[in-house]
Amino acid sequence: MHLRPSFSVLILAMSTSITAELLSHDSSIDVNNATAFALITFEPVLSAVGPNTFQNQAKLSTATSEVLVRPNVDTLYSKVVIDLSHSDLILSIPEVPNNRFYVAPFYDLYGNNFANVGSVNQSSPGDYLITISRNDEPGIRIFNETDSEYTKYKGVIKFATVYGSIMFRIVVNNNGTDLNAVHAIQAQLNITTIERKEEPLAPLLTPTLLGNGQLSNAALLLPFEFSLTQATETLQLLAQVNAVNPPEDRSDIKQVNDMFSVAGIDDGQYTSPEGLDYDKVSTIIGDQVQSFFANQSNHGFDQNGWFNLLPSLSGDYHTHYLARTCIAWYGYLQLAPSEAEYPTYLDPTVTTASGSLQLAANESYIMNFSGKPPVTGFWSLTAYNSTNYLVPNALDRYSLGDRSNLTYADGTQVYANSTNDGAFSILIQPADQAPSANWTTNWLPAPAGGGEFAVNLRWYGPTPALTNGTYKYPVVTKQGTVY
Ligand SMILES: *[C@@H]1O[C@H](CO)[C@@H](O)[C@H](O)[C@H]1NC(C)=O
Ligand SMILES: *[C@@H]1O[C@H](CO)[C@@H](O)[C@H](O)[C@H]1NC(C)=O
Ligand SMILES: *[C@@H]1O[C@H](CO)[C@@H](O)[C@H](O)[C@H]1NC(C)=O
Ligand SMILES: *[C@@H]1O[C@H](CO)[C@@H](O)[C@H](O)[C@H]1NC(C)=O
Ligand SMILES: *[C@@H]1O[C@H](CO)[C@@H](O)[C@H](O)[C@H]1NC(C)=O
Ligand SMILES: *[C@@H]1O[C@H](CO)[C@@H](O)[C@H](O)[C@H]1NC(C)=O
Ligand SMILES: *[C@@H]1O[C@H](CO)[C@@H](O)[C@H](O)[C@H]1NC(C)=O
Ligand SMILES: *[C@@H]1O[C@H](CO)[C@@H](O)[C@H](O)[C@H]1NC(C)=O
Ligand SMILES: *[C@@H]1O[C@H](CO)[C@@H](O)[C@H](O)[C@H]1NC(C)=O
Ligand SMILES: *[C@@H]1O[C@H](CO)[C@@H](O)[C@H](O)[C@H]1NC(C)=O
Ligand SMILES: *[C@@H]1O[C@H](CO)[C@@H](O)[C@H](O)[C@H]1NC(C)=O
Ligand SMILES: *[C@@H]1O[C@H](CO)[C@@H](O)[C@H](O)[C@H]1NC(C)=O
Repeated sequence: MHLRPSFSVLILAMSTSITAELLSHDSSIDVNNATAFALITFEPVLSAVGPNTFQNQAKLSTATSEVLVRPNVDTLYSKVVIDLSHSDLILSIPEVPNNRFYVAPFYDLYGNNFANVGSVNQSSPGDYLITISRNDEPGIRIFNETDSEYTKYKGVIKFATVYGSIMFRIVVNNNGTDLNAVHAIQAQLNITTIERKEEPLAPLLTPTLLGNGQLSNAALLLPFEFSLTQATETLQLLAQVNAVNPPEDRSDIKQVNDMFSVAGIDDGQYTSPEGLDYDKVSTIIGDQVQSFFANQSNHGFDQNGWFNLLPSLSGDYHTHYLARTCIAWYGYLQLAPSEAEYPTYLDPTVTTASGSLQLAANESYIMNFSGKPPVTGFWSLTAYNSTNYLVPNALDRYSLGDRSNLTYADGTQVYANSTNDGAFSILIQPADQAPSANWTTNWLPAPAGGGEFAVNLRWYGPTPALTNGTYKYPVVTKQGTVY
C-alpha cells in the first residue's frame, strides 16, 4: 500500500446500510452477510508517532505524497491519534490570528466527525477537555458560567470510542510566504494527559495492537478489495477493540453486536464462522458499494450535473455505516457539512469507479463558474489521478480557488478585490497540453495523455446559498484541447 511509514496511517474501513435489511432476517442472518457488515462497519485509526501527540505536516501535499487519498492542498494537517484508554486529555487551541480559517475535527474510531472546534463555530482559544462519554451522548459542549469547570476549560468533547483521532486543518493562504505563519500556529497546538483514578478502560493503542503495521495494507481499499488475510486481520482487530469502541448511536449497539456475533466476533475473539465464503462476502460488499453510489435518493441536491450526498451521509454517519465506507475510499476523514461540503460532478460517459471525469489526449473540460462561491472560509477545485493522488505537472499546480490568480475573460483578477463578481472559467486539460497564454492562470492540469481522473470541489465554511439553489453551479462542457 502507498503509506509513508512516518505517518503509518492505519485505515480500516467498515460500515452498513444493510443493517435494517439484514436484521429483518434476524436469526437467519447469513454468515457472509454478517461478515460483509462487520467489514463495512469499522473505520480508521491513525497510528502516528504515538498516541496523544500532535504530528504536524510541514508542507502542502504534492504529486509525490501518498499519505492520504485525495489530499487537499489548501491546509496543513496536524494529526493526533486519540487514546482515552488510560487518561483523559486536554487540548490547547491557540489564538489563530487574522481570521485564518481552521478547524479541529474530532473523529471516533468509526470515522465520524462528531464534533468540531474552529472558525465556523467562532470557537474561543484555550483548553478543551477530551474524555469518553459514559452514560451520556457523545458530542461537544461549550461551557458557560453555570458549569463547574467553566474557569478551567472552554468546553468538553466526549468521544463514543476509546480510540479516535483529530485531523486539525489550518488554511495556507500562499504556498511560500505564508507557511511560517501556519507553522507558528501548529507549534502552539498542545495535547496533555490527565490521569483518571480508575482501572484502564482498554489496552494502550500500540503498534502491536494494530498488527505492527500489517493492517495498513488494507488501508485505502474498499473492504471488497481486501484479501482474505487483510479481512481476517481486520476482523481480529475489530474483535479486540469492539467492546470499548461502540457505535456512535448507542441505540444501535445491540444490533451491531448481534451482527458481529454471527460474523464470528465474540468476547474479544474472532473465529472464522462455519460456512464463510469470502468470495461471496466480497461480492456482497461490492454490490452494496455500487448501489450506494448509484442511488439517487442519497443525493442532497443535483444541479448542472453536480450533486451532494445528503448531509446525513456526509462526515458524521451515525448508523449509515456503508456511506462512511464508500466515502472513506476517496475522502478519508471527511468533515461534517457544517465545516465543509464536497459537491461532485460525474461525467456520464465515465463508467468505472476509478474516476468521475475522462478526457482523451486531445480533449478538455471547461467549468463555467457563475460567480465567486459564497463561503465563509475558502474554496478549491483539486484534480486527482485515477488512484486518488495529485496530478504531476510542470506548474506544480494541483488546485485552483479563492487563493489562486484566477482571471476573468478580460484578464483582470477574480480575487483582486472583494467587491467585484461575475462569471469566470476553469480549464481542465491534460498536463502535457499547455493552453494559450490567456488560459494559463485558469488551467487546472489533468493527467498527461488524458484518461480517467477526478476533481474535488471543496467549500469550507459553506453558506446555505450553496445548497438552497441560490448559487448556480458551474456548467461543464467538454471540447477539443484549447490552445
Ligand atoms: C444477504 O445479502 C444478499 C445480497 O445483498 C441478499 O440478497 C440476501 O437476501 C441476504 N441474505 C440474508 C439471509 O440476509
Ligand atoms: C458549530 O457550528 C455548527 C454550524 O453552525 C452547528 O451545527 C454546531 O452546533 C456548532 N457546534 C458548537 C459546539 O457550537
Ligand atoms: C449554559 O449551558 C447550559 C447547558 O448547555 C444551558 O442549558 C444554559 O442555558 C446555558 N446558560 C447560559 C446563560 O447560556
Ligand atoms: C504542552 O503543555 C505542557 C503542560 O502544560 C507543557 O509542559 C509543554 O511545554 C507544552 N508544549 C507545547 C508545545 O506548548
Ligand atoms: C436508496 O437510498 C434510499 C435512501 O437512503 C433507501 O431508502 C433505498 O433503499 C435505497 N435503494 C437501494 C436500491 O439501495
Ligand atoms: C497516481 O499518482 C500516484 C502518486 O504520484 C502514483 O503513484 C500513481 O501511479 C498514479 N496513478 C496512476 C493511475 O497514474
Ligand atoms: C509549494 O511550494 C513548493 C516549493 O516551491 C513546491 O515544491 C510545491 O509543489 C508547492 N506545492 C503546491 C501545492 O503548490
Ligand atoms: C499570483 O500572482 C502573483 C504575482 O504574479 C504571484 O506572486 C503569486 O505566487 C501567484 N499566486 C499563485 C497561487 O499562483
Ligand atoms: C482566452 O482567449 C480566448 C479567445 O479570445 C477566449 O475564448 C477565452 O475565453 C480566453 N480565456 C479566458 C480564461 O478568458
Ligand atoms: C473592485 O471591483 C469593482 C467592480 O469591478 C470596481 O468597481 C472597483 O473599482 C474595484 N476596486 C479596486 C480597488 O480595484
Ligand atoms: C439561500 O441561502 C442564502 C444565504 O446563504 C439566503 O440569503 C437565501 O435567502 C436562501 N434562499 C432560499 C431560497 O432559501
Ligand atoms: C481526438 O483524437 C481522436 C483520435 O485521434 C479523433 O478521432 C477526434 O476527432 C479528436 N477529437 C478532437 C476534439 O479533436
